[in-house]
Amino acid sequence: MAKYNIALLPGDGTGPEVLREGVKIAQAAAQRFGFSFDTTEYDFGGERFLRTGEVLPDSATDELKKYDAIFLGAIGHPDVKPGILEKGILLRVRFELDQYINLRPVKLYPNVDTPLKNKGPADIDFVVVRENSEDMYTGLGGVMRKGTPYEVAVQEMVYTRNGVDRCLRYAFETARKRNKTKTLLLCGKTNVLTYVFDLWERAFHEMGARDFPDIKREYAHVDATTMWMVKNPEWFDVIVTGNMFGDIITDLGAMIQGGMGIAAGGNINPAGVSMFEPIGGSAPKYTGKNVINPLACIFAGQMMLAHLGEEKAADCIEKACVKFLESKVLPGLSVKDIEDAGMSTTKIGDRIAEYVATV
Ligand code: IPM
Ligand code: MN
Repeated sequence: MAKYNIALLPGDGTGPEVLREGVKIAQAAAQRFGFSFDTTEYDFGGERFLRTGEVLPDSATDELKKYDAIFLGAIGHPDVKPGILEKGILLRVRFELDQYINLRPVKLYPNVDTPLKNKGPADIDFVVVRENSEDMYTGLGGVMRKGTPYEVAVQEMVYTRNGVDRCLRYAFETARKRNKTKTLLLCGKTNVLTYVFDLWERAFHEMGARDFPDIKREYAHVDATTMWMVKNPEWFDVIVTGNMFGDIITDLGAMIQGGMGIAAGGNINPAGVSMFEPIGGSAPKYTGKNVINPLACIFAGQMMLAHLGEEKAADCIEKACVKFLESKVLPGLSVKDIEDAGMSTTKIGDRIAEYVATV
């Protein structure tokens, strides 16, 4: 029987509450499909930082490398200046564990509201493969004459051929594996960022022609991509893009699939340790109230199990969530909807766990 070791990073705000449900559901699926996992919890986050002054102990990333996967709740604390925890925990783990892919499915489930008029689940089902280790996120650059009227600030968009190639390979393979329209769209900005996206475009066509002749290749500028995501989301199957553009378009993606309460993502190192997370924030004002929607975290758990090769268990979690949504227990996914329905974070998790056992 397979046994996995999972590191839990509940983090801040409502992170612990949603992660508890994510773990509950993953455990239920493990039980049904004959595998198990041990969990070890780490207290990294705002509270720890305020108490100790330390964001992440130096030993942490080495320790995290020993697990089969990392499951994260949320990072972000109202009393900590923006950037400290995000850079010190989330980005540090992504970089030091070389999680060079940020995989973000954009899928509209039944009975989930989308702000897009006349679009339904048949129209919104694609994935974004966001590069996760380069671009403006490397921090290369600097500042001079700070605080003067002549201040100069530079933050470079950095790409390497190797970084682009490994991301493209993962994206092509994703398109092949999905087996939907077998189309990979490169989202860039070749009309302005003529160095960086020229590199991307050449690498894209070279690799595609050589190793993935079965995958159709398309290209769109990032600005046009946002337009099509709203107007014709059914055109997309797999989108591959850089780190910065990927950050932006996946928030748009999250909105068209029903909001931050449902969107999940994986920070993936295909040959190492990956980290799965709901992509919404820590919702500080709802902390401890047991009213936040755990679905995004449950879907992150689904992605984690799929990544570990437990495809059947992952599919079962998805089916259980769909059954829950179809049951219309909730009129919507907001805190108000959950309160109006007399439901709670825990009750939603319990209901989905029951479905996992039977669906
Ligand atoms: C995300 C977040 C992070 C990012 C922040 C919190 C550093 O927005 O996961 O998309 O920019 O990647
Ligand atoms: Mn983001």
